[in-house]
Amino acid sequence: MSGDGLILALETSCDDTCAAVITPDGAIRSNIISSQGVHDRFGGVVPEIASRQHLTLLPPVIDEALRTAGTTLDDVGLIAATRGPGLVAALLVGFCAGKALAAARELPFSAVDHLHAHIAASFLKPSEFEPPFLALIASGGHTLLAEVSDHRALRIIGQTLDDAAGEAFDKGARLLGLGYPGGAALERLAAEGDPGAFDFPAAARMPGLDFSFAGLKTALLYKVRDLGERETERRRADLAAAYQRAIVEALLLRVRRALQQTGARRLAVGGGVAANGPLREALGGLGVELDIPPRSLCTDNAAMVASAARYSPILAFPEYLELDVYATGERR
Ligand code: KG4
Ligand code: ZN
Repeated sequence: MSGDGLILALETSCDDTCAAVITPDGAIRSNIISSQGVHDRFGGVVPEIASRQHLTLLPPVIDEALRTAGTTLDDVGLIAATRGPGLVAALLVGFCAGKALAAARELPFSAVDHLHAHIAASFLKPSEFEPPFLALIASGGHTLLAEVSDHRALRIIGQTLDDAAGEAFDKGARLLGLGYPGGAALERLAAEGDPGAFDFPAAARMPGLDFSFAGLKTALLYKVRDLGERETERRRADLAAAYQRAIVEALLLRVRRALQQTGARRLAVGGGVAANGPLREALGGLGVELDIPPRSLCTDNAAMVASAARYSPILAFPEYLELDVYATGERR
């Protein structure tokens, strides 16, 4: 814990520029998220562009986080930033800014793991979902199942072998002519379609707790090619509905297996895909105690980073100055 004082956290691991202020006991005072919205024309995040955008956006986002919290740096007792995993060029902006802010005031600093942060979103008020629980994190960048035994420890027991679940939504959306990121648009289109209209590869074929979505995307690609332009256009909603069902079933199947394997009776869900209606509905039917934080805490944000900082090593000035970011996690 940070002792007295507020926690100011920064998150720049991908394309959202985020700053947040929380109290040491996990009440959110501000949670500012500036989505860059400049990557859609490329169909994905371009690291160097994300990095330059973070440079421009981060100072006003930090100012806004402090202003919205009704505070100044004088009341901040701990500064935190995401160290990885993520895009190195993007991570560096928030991480270096955080270290510099801390160093200028000789404040302690906490380097936070992004996946731990997604899970720590559940520790925030008002839900304060307490370990032990099973966590499913499904976003554009990661898909994983983790056993969370206490506030500090997570053990990854399943992860994607190729695309992330959100990436599968985005690639499917692209094949169906929707914009980027396309998860929400695909969900809207799917609502008008019949999920039973097409068969996509069954998730059950793959044993264990790892995920794989690349085959599903290829199956949609072939389906679109076989149908031809005009027929695809006519059946877009059915394609979206069947494709979405396949993703949701793949997620659900592994969650069920993981609950069985670990004996967990409680489940926390995070990541942008947690916004998906059919997924939420399916998870709600599992009969376990469920925590799905509000959307602003499920997608990338800095309040979750501040929350994780409370349970991460805290370094005194100037010990943290030599720390560097990391692109991939080596937890397993
Ligand atoms: O956690 P997040 O905001 O950030 C990154 O991973 O960067 O997740 C974004 C992902 C995107 O792939 C997006 O398409 C997906 O979450 N997403 C959805 C929905 N809303 C966002 N996927 C399915 N259904 C949705 N309603
Ligand atoms: Zn994330």
